[in-house]
Amino acid sequence: MAALETLLSRVSVSSLVEPAPEGAVLDGILEAGLRAPDHGRLAPWHYVLIRGDARRRLADLVETALRARDPEAPQPLIDKQRGKFLRPPLTIALGARIRTDHKVPPLEQMLAVGAGAMNLLNAIHASGFGAIWVTGANAYDPRVQAGLGFVAPDTLAGFLFVGTPAHGLPEVTRPALAGHVTEWAGLVETA
Ligand SMILES: Cc1cc2nc3c(=O)[nH]c(=O)nc-3n(C[C@H](O)[C@H](O)[C@H](O)COP(=O)(O)O)c2cc1C
Repeated sequence: MAALETLLSRVSVSSLVEPAPEGAVLDGILEAGLRAPDHGRLAPWHYVLIRGDARRRLADLVETALRARDPEAPQPLIDKQRGKFLRPPLTIALGARIRTDHKVPPLEQMLAVGAGAMNLLNAIHASGFGAIWVTGANAYDPRVQAGLGFVAPDTLAGFLFVGTPAHGLPEVTRPALAGHVTEWAGLVETA
């Protein structure tokens, strides 16, 4: 029951301060990622930890990629993008090592990476920390991906920003079950 309460109380937290999980607590969180279901046991997950001074180097990489995408990018936009990667105490880049020579399709391998990310989020919450999963133009930029060690077909499923919630956990209204669950009793009329 305690586990279900943990799952039901998780929320994304975007305002994060020190400390981030580290040591054995962080190892436990990362181990949870590797417990995701994984068709073919391909173990496509690869987590890159960015913390401390490395955050500035990631911000530099993001800035270089942004300037390449948009040579006219205004300084406030550059500063905003840099800030996203400078502020979180810990960023986990969600690397996906994708096999194209295997009968398990890349989509399923990405689903395993996504399931791993969800396990990380739940484990972070269960450990008393906060996190949010983000993607966006930087995550999909091949320059950023390559700078983190991922070249196609390997890719990034985004970033987890991780730390301690600055203002507690936000109140979130969740969708009602009735709108998302039906009991199938035979063919559904879709026309
Ligand atoms: C694959 C993926 C990518 C996401 N990318 C972003 C993003 O770039 N920016 C953002 O604000 N939220 C993004 N989100 C949504 C947040 O992670 C989060 O789910 C959302 O704010 C709802 O909060 P909740 O997790 O408490 O329901 C993404 C979610 C997923 C699953």
